Amino acid sequence: MSTQKTKLNDTLVLPNGSTLINRIGKSAMSESLADHYHNPTRELIYLYEKFAQGQTGLLITGNVMVDYKSLERARNIVFGEYSNHEKLKEWAQSSQQDGVQTWVQISHPGRQVAKHINNKPVAPSDIAAVQKLKAFANARALTTEEIANIKHKFIEAALTARNAGFQGVQFHAAHGYLLGQFLSPANNLRTDEWGGSIENRARLLIEIIRATREKVGPTFSIGIKINSSDFRRGGFTEEHSLETMILLDKESLDLIEISGGTYESSAMLEGNPKAGEKAFFVSFAERARQATKIPLMITGGFRHREQMEKTLESGNIDVIGLGRPVACDPFVSKKLLNGELQELKAPKIKVSKGLRGLGEAAWYTQQLYRHSKGQEAKENIAILPCLFKHFTSDFIRAKTRKVKK
Ligand SMILES: Cc1cc2nc3c(=O)[nH]c(=O)nc-3n(C[C@H](O)[C@H](O)[C@H](O)COP(=O)(O)O)c2cc1C
Repeated sequence: MSTQKTKLNDTLVLPNGSTLINRIGKSAMSESLADHYHNPTRELIYLYEKFAQGQTGLLITGNVMVDYKSLERARNIVFGEYSNHEKLKEWAQSSQQDGVQTWVQISHPGRQVAKHINNKPVAPSDIAAVQKLKAFANARALTTEEIANIKHKFIEAALTARNAGFQGVQFHAAHGYLLGQFLSPANNLRTDEWGGSIENRARLLIEIIRATREKVGPTFSIGIKINSSDFRRGGFTEEHSLETMILLDKESLDLIEISGGTYESSAMLEGNPKAGEKAFFVSFAERARQATKIPLMITGGFRHREQMEKTLESGNIDVIGLGRPVACDPFVSKKLLNGELQELKAPKIKVSKGLRGLGEAAWYTQQLYRHSKGQEAKENIAILPCLFKHFTSDFIRAKTRKVKK
């Protein structure tokens, strides 16, 4: 057995035979840079040019939706009837540089869609609204026909990504979005083949993966993002996550990204571990490694080279995921890889507990906007104007978008 320790600069050959040029992945960050038809803008395309120059081995786009009614934010990209395929090709092309792979994160928010976008959200079961700022409506249970339709939309979205020239997709089953709601016993109370046992709760995700693989062929990359836990009483636990990974181990998947939390408990956006402290969810990695042979990426709280190296050297994790540090500096991976950088910048945003996840999202979205306009990140942006812009731009766009609502 080789005793050689994995380094950030090492390549990784995925199960489909394709290669990641190093062990750093940019995790999905919703850019909110679509036009009125939910197609890429010039700013989004420019942002990905910049990301690709940063030499991050794997770029995962912000969540792209499969349904024009069910959005996470009003300026999400959507793959569907209004898609401008030439623009999608331009976006894919902009992210191609020196062997960097770019995957599209594909998602449906289920109950996590704000009222001003959809006041009749759907979910696996009839469940109460997300308890945040009174911004969400109660969800209604999907019918079996609607589940089949959503499944079809996920598969078609993956095909759209492949045809546009992206190297892969990541299905978003983490952070309390629809695929994660199916996995969670707190949100999925169904008694048909889509609820109950873990096999049933994971059925939608697994059927999407299988059908996508059939459509896209063996060399296109397929990944998923999954929670280690929802950090919610009665929700998706570490045990459920491990059981799901055992099921996924039999599927044709190239990467599993581990995260945690939902809108109601935003564990994925907590704190900033110091040097010597572990990043988020890392203690779960060893158990995850026992559950599956599929390559694993872990995201959340990596702020020091030493944390990343230790995590890779443990042999439990194959790729280190970075979110906010890349929003601060798209070139952070290049600087880590050439040894220039030991500590990554990603300030913790000071807001009241109830606004914590939202505050982080709002502040870092403004940093993404700055890069998309060719500006540098700015550390001293006050949080209140960011929150104000976050809300008002969403409200205005929700009213002015051009698609059938
Ligand atoms: C502005 C912003 C947008 C985000 N959007 C998404 C998203 O679209 N999909 C997703 O899976 N995670 C999203 N996340 C979470 C990140 O992918 C990541 O899990 C989280 O930021 C923790 O990693 P970090 O500590 O390296 O930032 C977002 C985070 C931020 C800050």
